[in-house]
Amino acid sequence: MPSLLSLLLLPTSAVASTLLVSHFEGTLYTLTLSDTSSLSVTGQVSTGGGMPSWLTLDSEAKKLYVTDEAWFGTTKLSTYAVAADGSLTKEAETPTPGGELHSCLYGGDDGKGFIAAAQYNGGAVINYKLPLSPAASTPIQHLKFTMSSPGPRPDRQDAPHIHSTFTDPTSRFLLSGDLGADVIRIFSIDPASGKLTECPAAATARGDGPRHGAFWGPADSADSDVTVLFTVNELGNSVTAWDVKYPADGGCLTLAKKKTIGTLPSGKTPPSGSKAAEVRVRDNFVYATNRFDKSFGQNEDSIALYEIDPATGDFEFVEITSAFASFPRTFEINGDGTLVAVGGQTSSNVAIIERNVTTGRLGGRLANVAVGRPGAEMNEDGLSAVIWNE
Ligand SMILES: *[C@@H]1O[C@H](CO)[C@@H](O)[C@H](O)[C@H]1NC(C)=O
Repeated sequence: MPSLLSLLLLPTSAVASTLLVSHFEGTLYTLTLSDTSSLSVTGQVSTGGGMPSWLTLDSEAKKLYVTDEAWFGTTKLSTYAVAADGSLTKEAETPTPGGELHSCLYGGDDGKGFIAAAQYNGGAVINYKLPLSPAASTPIQHLKFTMSSPGPRPDRQDAPHIHSTFTDPTSRFLLSGDLGADVIRIFSIDPASGKLTECPAAATARGDGPRHGAFWGPADSADSDVTVLFTVNELGNSVTAWDVKYPADGGCLTLAKKKTIGTLPSGKTPPSGSKAAEVRVRDNFVYATNRFDKSFGQNEDSIALYEIDPATGDFEFVEITSAFASFPRTFEINGDGTLVAVGGQTSSNVAIIERNVTTGRLGGRLANVAVGRPGAEMNEDGLSAVIWNE
């Protein structure tokens, strides 16, 4: 993490930034942001079928990994080369079981030797060696989970539903939010083979339905040596902080639940159908998106802001602000922390919101663009992901 001083010394560049977008209709888009105020679609490429659901970027190698959430027909994991202008060229594609969502790179010498993807419908984690073989890659593992009886939300918790894969700050462990089973699954990584070995999982509160997670630790605060995991609960519409511990004997990472806070101001009940989605941590701030809370009008859901105590890692709710999007499935803060790109799934737009690097507060909408076919309320269509191409 660069120091504040080095950030202040960075020249303010007037050059355009690019963003990459996936759309469930089967298209990837390149967007160009000029002067932080003008956002336009400057490229598009068809994925040739499927439902692209998530984007993972290797920003050094300029490789984009695209998962496919379709659970019918031919489903695939694809690699695209990213050119300087953000345009995309497919390099490799491997057939997959389908239903892949969130993915992450891990292992190898540089943390990018392998890719793991979450399978929601299949209740599994699947992993592949990189680079993908141009024809078909064989998965290293296909770890499927079971549970003996449905959870407290039987409509969503009939079976394990793995929603994410992400690594811890030491890169020795991979974690997964299991929305169906109400656990954070933990795996130790063999960096050479990419093999994942299951560790004891950490239980959330019943009915939380954990989705994604983001870490905060010594890299974010010079005043603390604690590491905290923040997970967002899609069913509970809340964020949970966990104490992260590494046993001295080199055993498994463990999580101890500290605190859970709702993603809406206290006293405000999430409207029926609300589903918290994405969580991000930057410096001493946590952000989580609300989908379908309609806090800023019929077509404007919200982003919750929490502040982290830099000495203890404790956190408190601050406020919600407009996401300038309907059903904001994804959002990402840019490298210098001044802008947030929000992807509205149902509204199928990307909004650029200003962010104050000192206070963490999100402000007004600086730019906006409609991308592809708008989604229908509560349908698995519309815009699936947006990331900065940095
Ligand atoms: C960030 O917020 C602080 C405190 O309100 C304010 O003084 C500063 O001008 C803000 N920075 C920007 C870039 O708006």
